[in-house]
Amino acid sequence: MLFGGTGDLARRMLLPSLYFLDADGFLPDGFRVVATARQEMSREAFRDEVHAALKARAEGLDEAAWRRFAERLDYVAADATHAEGAAALKEALGEARRPIFYLALSPSLYGRVCAALAGAGLAGEGTRIVLEKPIGRDLQSSRVINAAVGEVFEEDRIFRIDHYLGKETVQNLIALRFANTLFEPLWNNQLIDHVQITVAETEGVGDRWPYYDEYGALRDMLQNHMLQLLCLVAMEPPTDMEPDSVRNEKVKVLKSLRPFTRADAQNASIRGQYAGGVVGGAAAQAYEAERGQPSGTETFVALRADIDNWRWAGVPFFLRTGKRLPERRTQIAIQFKCVPHSIFGEDSRHDLVANRLVIDLQPDEDIELLLMNKAPGISQGGMRLQSLPLSLSLLRAYSGPGARRRIAYERLLLDVIHGNSTLFVRRDEVEEAWKWVDGVAQSWADAGMAPKTYPAGSWGPPGAFALIERVGRAWSD
Ligand code: BG6
Repeated sequence: MLFGGTGDLARRMLLPSLYFLDADGFLPDGFRVVATARQEMSREAFRDEVHAALKARAEGLDEAAWRRFAERLDYVAADATHAEGAAALKEALGEARRPIFYLALSPSLYGRVCAALAGAGLAGEGTRIVLEKPIGRDLQSSRVINAAVGEVFEEDRIFRIDHYLGKETVQNLIALRFANTLFEPLWNNQLIDHVQITVAETEGVGDRWPYYDEYGALRDMLQNHMLQLLCLVAMEPPTDMEPDSVRNEKVKVLKSLRPFTRADAQNASIRGQYAGGVVGGAAAQAYEAERGQPSGTETFVALRADIDNWRWAGVPFFLRTGKRLPERRTQIAIQFKCVPHSIFGEDSRHDLVANRLVIDLQPDEDIELLLMNKAPGISQGGMRLQSLPLSLSLLRAYSGPGARRRIAYERLLLDVIHGNSTLFVRRDEVEEAWKWVDGVAQSWADAGMAPKTYPAGSWGPPGAFALIERVGRAWSD
């Protein structure tokens, strides 16, 4: 049962994901999708809307697959925070034995919806609940939400989604690290100089500002997606892929994040907000113009995180994310140290650059290992060196006929159906992430740090470069 069934997330991601899973034969027989929202609408009108949304997608629509999927689809108008609404949902669910409730709603409603479900006798054994981010706005509010949901559903029936964990390349990070012998011996402070994680978007906030203005880039992106990426890069090898094995390791990383101080706020972080500019050749409005009034919310954040444990002591992690940047790019760059000594003489000294492993998650899925090579030919004064990428395009490697890039939600929805929570975020994980992020927000407040403007279409305020250059490094672009 999909709550928020007429919303943007349902239309753009969740219903298309279910349609594709069905088209590929992954949905069990008898599986029904009951969407619900407060808006009055007939089942037929709802199906027509979903049909139109699917047709508008780049992948195109297989009409026969659609007809099969449409048979599964139902819609019920209800206010799920009240007993009458929950009764209507119960009726719509009919004989369904173990419904899954997907809350694509404002998190402020999670507690009340759970209570109403329990009141209607809908939250019994075997039922599951899926929660969208953000779980709260800080540690305190996330605890309140988690406690309210936890009153009704035990932890192993709660699936907190972070859609980044459903992305192919994010899961491939686990394979890259733990299915190869090559990297693990190098994956530590002996050989790694620093790590960079960039999530750059060209899109602005647009009409999402009522939500976004409350959260900003720190809470909207860094608290969840970026810390999840950091955890997967930094965690110790889990014993196996069981949910708690992986999540225990991630929690250890979060607990090892060094608390941010006021001095860090000033020296090791920057908040930005886009002014007007040009992105991809098109004029882009300032955030303030979209918002309709001045705002103290950041649309860009860059900061340095330190992980205080044996493996990572002394290895800074530089994180950067923002809206209205020059290109869409999600990238993890592992920067190795330089060779301890060059044997190639003075002329080649400047050619010598340190190895770097670059994992591109978006828009292309590529892995590149930059290696030093001899530049071909003969040169006076010794051998010339050149850095060249050993490159693996996952798209090319796996793009057989009919191959389609899956929506991250497809994998996650299937995992919920099968009850596998490895790629979902556990309660203590969310709360540890908030604890650290609250420290960052507090240190900004203590230091009186307002966002600095940057032109839309640039890589953020100058301070984003200063914070990394101050410690002798540079962003990988
Ligand atoms: C969402 C954020 O969680 O992730 C959005 O709320 C952001 O602000 C989006 O645009 C980015 O996701 P993706 O998959 O497009 O990188």
